[in-house]
Amino acid sequence: MKRDFDVIVWGATGFTGRLVARYLCEQYGFGSIRWAIAGRSGDRLRQVREQLASLDARASDLPILVADSADRELLRAMAQRTQVVLTTVGPYAKYGAPLVEVCAEEGTDYVDLCGEPQFIRRMVDAHHETVRQKRGRIVHCCGFDSIPSDIGVFVLQRAAQETFGQPLPNVTLYVERTRGGVSGGTLASMMHVLDEARDPQVRRLLADPYALCPQNGVRGPDGGDQQSVRWDPDRQVWTAPFVMAAINTRVVRRSNALLDYAWGRDFSYREVTALPGGLSGWLKARQLQFGLAAFTALAWPRWTRSLMQATILPKPGEGPSEQDRENGFFRLRLAGRGTDRRLDVICRGKRDPGYGATSRMLAESALCLACDRDRLPDRYGVLTPASGLGEPLIDRLAQADVTFDVESRPSA
Ligand SMILES: NC(=O)c1ccc[n+]([C@@H]2O[C@H](COP(=O)([O-])OP(=O)(O)OC[C@H]3O[C@@H](n4cnc5c(N)ncnc54)[C@H](OP(=O)(O)O)[C@@H]3O)[C@@H](O)[C@H]2O)c1
Repeated sequence: MKRDFDVIVWGATGFTGRLVARYLCEQYGFGSIRWAIAGRSGDRLRQVREQLASLDARASDLPILVADSADRELLRAMAQRTQVVLTTVGPYAKYGAPLVEVCAEEGTDYVDLCGEPQFIRRMVDAHHETVRQKRGRIVHCCGFDSIPSDIGVFVLQRAAQETFGQPLPNVTLYVERTRGGVSGGTLASMMHVLDEARDPQVRRLLADPYALCPQNGVRGPDGGDQQSVRWDPDRQVWTAPFVMAAINTRVVRRSNALLDYAWGRDFSYREVTALPGGLSGWLKARQLQFGLAAFTALAWPRWTRSLMQATILPKPGEGPSEQDRENGFFRLRLAGRGTDRRLDVICRGKRDPGYGATSRMLAESALCLACDRDRLPDRYGVLTPASGLGEPLIDRLAQADVTFDVESRPSA
C-alpha cells in the first residue's frame, strides 16, 4: 500500500491529541516515519505545529490536514492518504462514526481511544464484514482502556499455555496502585454515554457483559461488573468497583471470541480495585464505591451536571498538568486461576494512566499497524488490541514504559 503517510493524528489540537503529536515528535522525529496532524481548525493545528517546532525545528514542515467530522469527503480524502488514522476526536459516539465508515471503505487501518461500548457495538455491526473483506483493521480502545487489560490477559494466557499446556479459566484484574487525573474530553465522553443510556435499549447493551461479542457467539459464565465492596479471600484484600471495568471486560471477552475462544469457552474475567485488608482498606473501598455512585447520581440530572461542569470539572481541551502526568503511574495485577493452577502477571506503567501513558500506548498501536505489518496477526475486521495487534505491540509498549511481567510463583 503506497500512501503519503504512515499515520495521521486526527484530533491533534485536543488534550490527548497534542500529547500524541508531542510523543511522535520527541520519540520518532521526522525521518523514520511519515506522519501528519489533522483536525477541524487550520489555525489551531498551526499553533500545535509551532509548539512542536519549539521542540524540534523540523516540525515546522509537518503536514496539516483540515477535516471536520461532518465533512465525509474531507474525511475520505484524509483516509486515502494514510496507512493508519489515529483519532482522539471524541466523544466517539458523537463524532466518530463517519471516520470509521470511510476507513472501512478505503481499507485504511484505524486506532482510537474509545471507551464507549454502544459506539463500538454499532461499528462492529456496521463494518466488521466490510473491513474483514478489505483486509483492514479497525482497533478501538488503544489507551488505558483497554490495552493493559486486554494485552495483560493475552500475556497471562500465553504464559499459562507455556507452563501448564492450557489457558486459565478465571482471570481477575486488581487495580493495585494508580495515580492520575481526568480530562474534560474524557468527562464529555462519559456524560455522552449517560445521555445515551436514557434509552432503555442502550441501557440493556451497557449492562450486557458480552455486549461486544459476536451476536451468535458463545456466552460465557460472567454476570455484571462488581458494584459493591467485597472481601477477596484469595488476595486477602478488600475489593471495590473499578470504573473502567464497564469497557475493559467487554473488550477482553471480545478478544477471546475473535481468538476463536483460545482462552476457553467458559473463560471468566472481572476487574476490581484492590484495597488493603483491615478497617482502613474497608473504609477506602466504601469511599470509592460511594464516590462513584455519587458522581453518577450527580451527572444524571442535567442541572446538577451543568453545575459541576461550570464549577469543578475540567473543560474539553483541559487535563492533568505536565507535573501530574509525569508523577503518575499504575500497577495492575492480573491473577489467573484454575482449580489447581495459578499464575499472575503484573502490568506496570510510568506516567499517569489516562494521558501520559495513554498517548504513548495509542501512538505505539498506530505505529504497530503501520510498521509491523509482517508480524501482525492474520486477522481483519473490527478488532481489539489483543486480537488485532497482539505480540508486536508488547515490544512497542515496553518502549513506552508499559510492561507486563509474569510473576514466577509455582502453581499451587
Ligand atoms: N481510553 C482511554 O484510556 C482514554 C484516555 C484519554 C482520552 N480518551 C478519550 O479520548 C477522547 C479525547 O479526549 P481529550 O481529553 O483529548 O478531548 P479534547 O481535549 O476535548 O479533544 C477533542 C478533540 O476533538 C476535536 N473535535 C471536536 N469536535 C470535532 C469535529 N466535529 N470534527 C473534528 N474534530 C473535532 C477537538 O478539536 P478542537 O481542538 O478544534 O476543539 C479536539 O481536537 C475522548 O473521547 C476521551 O474519552 C480515552
